[in-house]
Amino acid sequence: MNELGKILAAEIEKSGPISLYDYMKSALGHPEYGYYSRQEPFGEQGDFITAPEISQMFGELIGLWAVDVWFKLGSPKKFHLVELGPGNGTLMTDALRSARVVPDFLAAAQIELVENSRRLRSKQAEALSGFTPSWHDELPELEGAPVILIANEFFDALPIRQYCCQDGGWHERLVTITGNEFTFTLSPEPASLESAPVGAERDVYEICPDGEVITDRISKLLAANGGAALIIDYGATDTLLGDSFQAVKGHGPVDPLSNPGEADLTAHVKFVTLKNVAASRDIAVQGPTTQGRFLERLGIEARHHMLRQKADKAQSKKLDSQLRRLTSAAEMGTLFKAMALSHNMPVATEGFGS
Ligand SMILES: C[S@@+](CC[C@H](N)C(=O)[O-])C[C@H]1O[C@@H](n2cnc3c(N)ncnc32)[C@H](O)[C@@H]1O
Repeated sequence: MNELGKILAAEIEKSGPISLYDYMKSALGHPEYGYYSRQEPFGEQGDFITAPEISQMFGELIGLWAVDVWFKLGSPKKFHLVELGPGNGTLMTDALRSARVVPDFLAAAQIELVENSRRLRSKQAEALSGFTPSWHDELPELEGAPVILIANEFFDALPIRQYCCQDGGWHERLVTITGNEFTFTLSPEPASLESAPVGAERDVYEICPDGEVITDRISKLLAANGGAALIIDYGATDTLLGDSFQAVKGHGPVDPLSNPGEADLTAHVKFVTLKNVAASRDIAVQGPTTQGRFLERLGIEARHHMLRQKADKAQSKKLDSQLRRLTSAAEMGTLFKAMALSHNMPVATEGFGS
């Protein structure tokens, strides 16, 4: 058993089974042994690859989306350009490069990065060496200027709670220890859940409490300052039921309960829940729409065509494959969704159709 496993096992032996939420929170975020504190998650050498790491086109188009929002906000002299979970800083770097076409946008942007991994913060600092971002452990209170916020594959990395339907009640799924291994068990008492759907025997219902809190904070920020937020992640448009908890290592699935902290743990984002949280604060919601359609509406095909003009044969082949990975239904195009939240904008944000 690894070091984090020993810490969690000692906790379970002392106080009984822990929630999946606590297990996932430690496995991803433990300051010493958590996944994002120690492992190299991204790229061919890492465990998974995210859209900005697949192609510069992704971040560039999001940069243009942000520039368009800024124009629609009336080109404010100062605004907060926020990114949640910037990873290697690739998305922000590509976005700022494409935004160079509008120097006033760059001059007005105060870059705010929300990142709790010290290791990734230094990568972001390196990637953004020409800029002066501020880092935060949590979404900060931002005053006095509109907000443009981007979150790509941030919400799927937040810990979830799972409930299984048994004898007509929802029982929380817990993690315990059997012999030398972590195993799942169910809380014997049914949970009292305010707005759980009606389930059939063995259905699984997932919630992401931190995702709801963060969406509420984003909504409050937008309500107070005006602006827009773009959330891109994977998950269904409106489904709440189903077990989507998974672990990935070396680009393949692994057992989420073995070697905590060594594999990436994720769950599908419940867009319908986030949408309801935002709507309850009178925030305008666009989408979710599929990532493929969103990028097509922002002009990914034209950008691909432009890059191809200057490319040799091998580079063109690579660009074709990048386009396919980002937009095709067989790859990220359909499973991933984009959703925008906005407030005080006279015109809706781009990418969602009329
Ligand atoms: C799956 S990665 C996505 C990285 C990047 N957005 C991309 O698309 O390549 C998740 C990012 O969110 C950060 N993160 C996860 N949970 C966090 C939390 N609770 N607070 C702040 N950052 C968090 C991770 O350290 C990492 O940078």
